[in-house]
Amino acid sequence: MSDWLWWRDGVVYQIYPRSFLDANGDGVGDLEGIRRRLDHLAWLGVDAIWISPFYPSPMADFGYDVADYCGVDPLFGTLADFDRLLADAHARGIRVVVDWVPNHSSDRHPWFVESRSSRTSAKRDWYVWRDPAPDGGPPNNWFSNFGGPAWTLDPKTGQYYLHSFLPEQPDLNWRNPELVAAMHATLRFWLDRGVDGFRTDVGHRILKDPLLRDNPPNPNVPEQYRNGFLGQLHLHDENHPDVHVAYRAIRRLLDAYDERMMVGEIYIMDGREVAKYLGDGDELHLSFHFKFVHAGFDPAALRREVEEFEALCPAKGWPTWTLSNHDVPRHATRFDHPSLGDARARLAALLLLTLRGTPFLYYGEEIGMRNVPVAEEAMQDPLARRLHPRLCRDGERSPMCWEPGPGAGFTAHPQPWLPLGPQPPRTDVASQCDDRTSLLWLYKDLLALRRAHPSLQRGDYRGLDAPDGVWSYERRSDGERARVALNFSDAPRRVDLGAGRVVAGRRTGAAPLPERAGAVELGPAEGIVAILA
Ligand code: GLC
Repeated sequence: MSDWLWWRDGVVYQIYPRSFLDANGDGVGDLEGIRRRLDHLAWLGVDAIWISPFYPSPMADFGYDVADYCGVDPLFGTLADFDRLLADAHARGIRVVVDWVPNHSSDRHPWFVESRSSRTSAKRDWYVWRDPAPDGGPPNNWFSNFGGPAWTLDPKTGQYYLHSFLPEQPDLNWRNPELVAAMHATLRFWLDRGVDGFRTDVGHRILKDPLLRDNPPNPNVPEQYRNGFLGQLHLHDENHPDVHVAYRAIRRLLDAYDERMMVGEIYIMDGREVAKYLGDGDELHLSFHFKFVHAGFDPAALRREVEEFEALCPAKGWPTWTLSNHDVPRHATRFDHPSLGDARARLAALLLLTLRGTPFLYYGEEIGMRNVPVAEEAMQDPLARRLHPRLCRDGERSPMCWEPGPGAGFTAHPQPWLPLGPQPPRTDVASQCDDRTSLLWLYKDLLALRRAHPSLQRGDYRGLDAPDGVWSYERRSDGERARVALNFSDAPRRVDLGAGRVVAGRRTGAAPLPERAGAVELGPAEGIVAILA
């Protein structure tokens, strides 16, 4: 297709840089490590990588507390390392998306240091400061996502500052034009260096109610959660309508460059609100939809989320689908089954790579990495330490397994920053490269199939009738037709692929592709995609 567009027709692969490859032997991954594995990513066939934050940071939230938006933390390397990584990725046709954290900076960012220095500081209004309530308490009832009030009193100036997350992550004030200009400049900094796009962190929270009104209680949550973030309806602390004005301005900035993209972490469970961020093709290019991420291994729920969003997505918008990231347990773990091995992970791969919408893969999912349990006393995630160990995100951030043996090819250090395992046998790139039946090869085959067939990239989606436990759909474009059937049940199912000759395709199980469509028997948790002529 001559009008191929990387962020719409391609596939993006998320890298958590602490955990991809440790090139300098300190136990933590780095940019040079990513560069050294670009050949793996090119072999696999992804079109772009999104790298979670590598900016200078005190690491209170592992880089989502940015102390300099235009630099590289020494832990990860240097700007020169970044430039080399970018050039080498581009040389392989791989686009590079960086994380952008506009809702909050680190409390060590020079902007905040200056802002907190006095009530009359020139940057006071770059953050959200308010006088205490008459009783001396916080200015309103908002909670932090990470527990406790969203306000911290700064004794020196006697005012509270707002933080949607940790006290070390003060919220930036997007109602201040100078701050907006400064944040736009950070985008230009990376665009001018050649980055292809951004993932905007907590994209729905950058604008709040200007009057900072109290949130009403959420009547739908059990009593024990009332006194916390879940206990409120988030009417005033996120998703203010003005957020769309901000993204339209950002889109104009991006559109002044060639083929750049912004994908939003829009953590709202209402698809209508999520779809609004795509605007009329004049806001975000893509937005994650977390209801799909949280739908479970349930064909009816997953299908509902896809079909609802298909209906809501504006004409000039485009969906995106993902199952795992650095904030949720890996889907191979969520979908695990006592006796089906990696069948469900294989089915999930087929689903993700045949839907209409840009797939985002999470490093390690291509080899079926599971969450690695971390003992409570060893937990690193601030969310676990401050709120509850059960919320710990360390498990999904464990280092990539490149080969069998100590260090897993991730590090030469005896103690990586998080434990490498346990993982099921052969959960490593080297072993799976050598095995044509592996999950890794399934991903590679599906990526190649998607790239070769316009129906799988741009084709319309049409849900089809299917037996109980099966989700079946058709993708159609330019006279080409693809049929997909996914058996989510633990028992075999007979499905009807319609009529025609099967010209290409892939099954997740061992049986060969049929030569003709028609009735096909799928094993437990087996899926098939068939391109029909
Ligand atoms: C986003 C990030 C998450 C981080 C939070 C606060 O949700 O994905 O990892 O903790 O923002 O910055």
